[in-house]
Amino acid sequence: MVTMSAEHGAPPEIAVVDVGETSLTRARATRLAAQLGAPFLENADAAASWFLAVTADRVELRSGSSNAPGPVYAEFVAGAAGYARRRSAPQGLLVRTVKGRLSAPNVIDATAGLGRDAFRLAAAGCQVYAIERRPEIAALFEDGLRRAAEVPALQPVVERIRLTVADARSAIRARQVPADVIYLDPMYPLRKQSALVKKELRALRSVVGDDRDAEQLLAVARRAARLRVVVKRMRTAPCLVESPVRSTRDRTTRYDVYERS
Ligand SMILES: C[S@@+](CC[C@H](N)C(=O)[O-])C[C@H]1O[C@@H](n2cnc3c(N)ncnc32)[C@H](O)[C@@H]1O
Repeated sequence: MVTMSAEHGAPPEIAVVDVGETSLTRARATRLAAQLGAPFLENADAAASWFLAVTADRVELRSGSSNAPGPVYAEFVAGAAGYARRRSAPQGLLVRTVKGRLSAPNVIDATAGLGRDAFRLAAAGCQVYAIERRPEIAALFEDGLRRAAEVPALQPVVERIRLTVADARSAIRARQVPADVIYLDPMYPLRKQSALVKKELRALRSVVGDDRDAEQLLAVARRAARLRVVVKRMRTAPCLVESPVRSTRDRTTRYDVYERS
């Protein structure tokens, strides 16, 4: 279920384009454009740099510029982040750091993006309140959830995710039920990453820019979390704020853990 906050309309430059050119994709595209308050275009030639493309299968973020990263979309069923891969993999560092000894914590993912981490946490049994402030990015996440819900084994995972379009700073302040853990993954400078992540991050960055208010979000989160806040960083990046109580690391990523304040 997606809750839309009134304070965030779609930026006018990101149009919705029907690239499937069927009555179904046209209906989907016009509905999405209306939901986002974005222009609807019948063909991509008229679109500015970035646009949401409605294909027969899914919604993609695309760019008309020749050197832009290829289509970006949320994918929870197939591919590197998909269900088959996850089923055979042991629980990763993200899950272990966020859950600790808790079996089914309430987690706020305050920087949901395309929902990869939110889906991992939900697959590991967390109840996830995912918050994303850019409606176009949330629309990609929502579309990934729609497709995942068509796989019976993934339905319980999808049901554990609530996606809200809002600025997490105000949404967290307004929440009545405190989360056990709040998870943050703000944009940080790109360095060496896998090709897939790099493509997604480059595209996301082009649309959402840098998260310059991440320190403020961390301060809000530390006041609201019942137990802790976990911040994802590149392994070698400086801490968002000194001094986490502990950090966990793998080859590329570090998770800094902060106590509530
Ligand atoms: C690096 S991406 C997160 C990727 C995500 N962890 C995933 O697995 O797909 C950061 C996202 O956080 C969002 N964001 C940053 N600050 C936010 C805030 N205060 N409230 C809501 N969303 C925020 C940005 O719009 C961006 O989409």
